[in-house]
Amino acid sequence: MVPRKVGTAWEILAPAKVNLYLEVLGRRTDGFHELETLMVPVSLYDQLHWTPSTDGEVSDFSFSVDGSSNSGHLSSLGNQNLVPKAAQLLAARAGIKAHGHFHLTKRIPLAAGLGGGSSDAAAALLLANEAWQAGASRVELASLAAELGSDVPFFLTPGPAICRGRGEIVESVTGLPKLHLVVVKPKLGLSTQSVFSRLKDITQDVASSRNHSAQCLGRLLQDLKRGAIGRAGRSMVNRLEDAASQMTLEIRLIKDTLSRAGCWGQLMTGSGSAVLGIARSAWHARQIAGRLTAQSFGTVLATASG
Ligand code: C5P
Repeated sequence: MVPRKVGTAWEILAPAKVNLYLEVLGRRTDGFHELETLMVPVSLYDQLHWTPSTDGEVSDFSFSVDGSSNSGHLSSLGNQNLVPKAAQLLAARAGIKAHGHFHLTKRIPLAAGLGGGSSDAAAALLLANEAWQAGASRVELASLAAELGSDVPFFLTPGPAICRGRGEIVESVTGLPKLHLVVVKPKLGLSTQSVFSRLKDITQDVASSRNHSAQCLGRLLQDLKRGAIGRAGRSMVNRLEDAASQMTLEIRLIKDTLSRAGCWGQLMTGSGSAVLGIARSAWHARQIAGRLTAQSFGTVLATASG
């Protein structure tokens, strides 16, 4: 994610992500869960725009949001949106006043497990840092990102990554092939907190689950890197899927439909409710997306990992 100057304004594209692997290693004492997850950015973007205050008043700060109707309840999001929160956090730490107008155009479906809100927050940190010449280093931005949410640091680093801890410890991964994807978001979205709270049989023995997870993730990465996508598709895991499926029956239905359509693999992403299918080509992804759109499955997108 790189901010771009347009006249006196700045803009940035904030990508969505999908999880190709998500293992819950254990429950932590701080209320979070210890994770190991493989996340890849996809070519589906929100857009964040910053313009300076028109009257030159440096204390003027505002935020607005709009977007496609399938993004959900945008009007109710003004107050809880992470964009103004991120900008104000950066300003406070840099000892400056938040100023100018931020406008967010939402295209990434909400409450989907696609990381839209987290990506917007990371975009706001990067954009505000440039627009205000706040001078925060990458390490300082990563620390602010972790305060804003577990998935936010991932979006500061380009490309795929394995994320650990509660998600904020990011290790970049190279050499993965481009994947053609179908992403289906059922009409009902899910709250991350409520999905985690429904997890059952989670150990506190993080060390033993870490070994097992390292082996499973290692095999998946090896298959992906050597282009054995069919095998990789069969070994994708999302430990949150059962809990989420109890809340939205459509998750299983969509997975079955993607499997019957000939996908290499299908998996819920993040805490849901969106499901991804790995298609065999861009054409195959568009063909499946067209069919599922006609069947009114919710929001259906053909995209690719980037
Ligand atoms: O960090 P974030 O604000 O995205 O987390 C939202 C909620 O999801 C947390 O309050 C917590 O209930 C749950 N969560 C968790 N373990 C994680 C990440 C999130 O239990 N690693």
